[in-house]
Amino acid sequence: MTTLFRGIIYMFAFGCLFMVTSINSLSLPIFAYGEDEILIGLSECPIGYFHCLNDTKCILQKLNCDGQVDCDDNSDEMNCEDEHNSQYYDDLHRKQPHGLFDNTPKGRCFWKQENYSCDCRGTQFLCRFKQLTELPLNLPLFDISMLDLTGNSFPVLTRSTLRNLPQVEMLVLKFCNISEIQPFAFESIRDAQLLELYLDENNIERLPPNMFPANNELEVLILSGNKISELHSYDFENLEYLTELDLRRNRISTFSEDVFKPLANLSILHLNENQIQKIEPGMFPPMNLLETLSLAQNEIWTVDKDSFNFINLRHLYLSGNRLYEVHNDTFQGVPRLEGLNLDDNKIYHFELEAFRGVENLTSLLLKGNRFETLDPRVLQNLQNLKYIYFSSFHLCRAALHVRVCEPKGDGISSKHHLLDNTVLRGSVWVMASIAVAGNLIVIFGRYFHNSRSHVEHSLYLRHLAISDLLMGIYLTIIACADIAFRGEYIMHEAAWRASISCSICGFLSTLSCQSSTLLLTLVTYDRLISVIRPLQVRTASKTVVILRLAFLWGCSFAAAAAPLTAAPYFGAHFYGSNGVCLSLHIHDPYARGWEYSAAMYIFINMISLVFIIISYLRMLQAIRGSGEAMRSTLRGRENVVARRFAIIVATDCACWLPVIIVKLVALGGIKISPSLYAWLAVLVLPVNSALNPVLYTLTTASFKQQVKKYFHKFPCGAIVEPRSQTGYESALSISLGHAPTNSGRKRLLQKNVSYV
Ligand SMILES: *[C@@H]1O[C@H](CO)[C@@H](O)[C@H](O)[C@H]1NC(C)=O
Ligand SMILES: *[C@@H]1O[C@H](CO)[C@@H](O)[C@H](O)[C@H]1NC(C)=O
Repeated sequence: MTTLFRGIIYMFAFGCLFMVTSINSLSLPIFAYGEDEILIGLSECPIGYFHCLNDTKCILQKLNCDGQVDCDDNSDEMNCEDEHNSQYYDDLHRKQPHGLFDNTPKGRCFWKQENYSCDCRGTQFLCRFKQLTELPLNLPLFDISMLDLTGNSFPVLTRSTLRNLPQVEMLVLKFCNISEIQPFAFESIRDAQLLELYLDENNIERLPPNMFPANNELEVLILSGNKISELHSYDFENLEYLTELDLRRNRISTFSEDVFKPLANLSILHLNENQIQKIEPGMFPPMNLLETLSLAQNEIWTVDKDSFNFINLRHLYLSGNRLYEVHNDTFQGVPRLEGLNLDDNKIYHFELEAFRGVENLTSLLLKGNRFETLDPRVLQNLQNLKYIYFSSFHLCRAALHVRVCEPKGDGISSKHHLLDNTVLRGSVWVMASIAVAGNLIVIFGRYFHNSRSHVEHSLYLRHLAISDLLMGIYLTIIACADIAFRGEYIMHEAAWRASISCSICGFLSTLSCQSSTLLLTLVTYDRLISVIRPLQVRTASKTVVILRLAFLWGCSFAAAAAPLTAAPYFGAHFYGSNGVCLSLHIHDPYARGWEYSAAMYIFINMISLVFIIISYLRMLQAIRGSGEAMRSTLRGRENVVARRFAIIVATDCACWLPVIIVKLVALGGIKISPSLYAWLAVLVLPVNSALNPVLYTLTTASFKQQVKKYFHKFPCGAIVEPRSQTGYESALSISLGHAPTNSGRKRLLQKNVSYV
């Protein structure tokens, strides 16, 4: 036995050593400063490192803005807010005009002449949802800062509708059912000295000629949420003071440059949520004061070179379109661009000079696109870039010169380590050791001691141990790869995920999971039959048992090997979608082959789990029933057996339920925290493999007896005397037949309970 133990430990250590050396010999260290996160006393920081502001420390990219102070002067946690990104959200969610002064209380109207039915708030006149069809009568003529007519009814705005408009800065005609605007309808705004006009959420299909009079002072025009499909050259005539134009949520698909030409002072233009398909030269005139242009949520599939000519543009939003490629010089006409949002397109490729001409860019958003690799030369000229956002942390390899690159990791891996978390790293080793050692003991133990009774049960358990051993091997490989790549993971990341080792890892873990699940089901079935029909002669011949096992292994093997085939359904690297090579796919639940993954981890596990729970309940019931007939003798053992069953079922639940639930939740579209995913993959999924040998063999009475018998040959102090056994153990060893036998029925039952 001791030699056996020693042999196992040697094999284990040797195997790991071999794997470490073999993986290491494949990889050349590229980062000269492997693991150091902070370097001191260098005048120049190496690539991937950043200077603290006032001291000579160099810190790793990931330490910037990670919530922990690393520089003595705190400078690594300064300037961590990406203003461009926050501005994007501010622009996206415009505040309601009447909400701008929310903290001023509503009250009586300031103008005493009339008894208005409308609310006032200081100099604001709030006639919201009053079913008005014309302007309120007898409005004061001066000093109104806002006239809010939201929710009234003005289906047709004629020349006379607003004729008596008093002097007012802001006019709100939101939700007013406006479907037609006649020429000269807003003629009164010049005398009213109107600055802001809200016409959002109406049914306007087109704007009339001569809508606004010459020499008006309008600065803000909001036309969002209408049905405008066509823009004409006269639409924005006479709006030379306009600084903000909001046309979002309309049906605009194209326009020509004379549309925006009159808008010489425009600085903010929202064209998001329209139906624009293409941006080409001739659509926008040169606009020298434009600072923000939003073209998000359109159907744009291409942006031609020379389409933009905005020398002061700071923010360009192109998210949620259909761009599939970014060509050379696309952004050449926007030399001052600081923030560019290209999230949620279909970009799979950047030409090398895609960002030529936008050297001032500080923030670049590239999440939710299709590219899986990025040539570092694409971002090379963007030396002022401070924030970059990708879908996956491994793309940060192309942006080592950028101070903040998000995401910093995928929960399991980071740019530096395959297993980023120290606890995670330790757990992998612990799990791997328990799974390998425990299952090897079971395999050899059961091999040397072949109990004559329950041959098939023992065979099943040996196969279960083999299957669980595969999980141990998988974890060992991952743990070794983690050591090999420590500190420089991002350099090996792509190669590792595409490697055969990773595919083998994925194969091993899937094979182990599936065969283990099926074997547990089979073992449970076997137990169920022998408990509920103890007197029936066991008919399963050796061939049947072997056939069952062969079928089970065949199915698991086929399931695990399927993604290794070049089938287009699975894509090129099905297992390599993450650093630990699992096919669980929780971070990207609808990635290619998700149905397969769902079937594996939800369907099969669920069925097995339900079967196992029902079976053990049924067994317990059967044992209770027979216990009743025999009174007290079985009472004690009944509880022991129940507890044991409960533990078995509980570990199965603990292992599978979280996986099933998290997978379902992820498929339901809820974002799973990446760290939860890591724990699931490394700790929860293999827990059964580590515990099965303990549950099914190492703590059973027959195994303990075997060990005791062995140690009794060489008496030594540490051995516990059989007399001092706990009630739990003695009750189980009674079941091996030491107890006085009362009846044949009982003996049979005891025999069957002995291996639980
Ligand atoms: C860096 O040093 C300068 C001059 O000593 C000082 O004014 C500045 O506040 C320091 N910056 C930080 C971030 O400590
Ligand atoms: C884009 O620029 C790169 C580098 O200057 C060049 O090699 C490539 O051919 C260009 N692509 C096209 C389509 O012109």
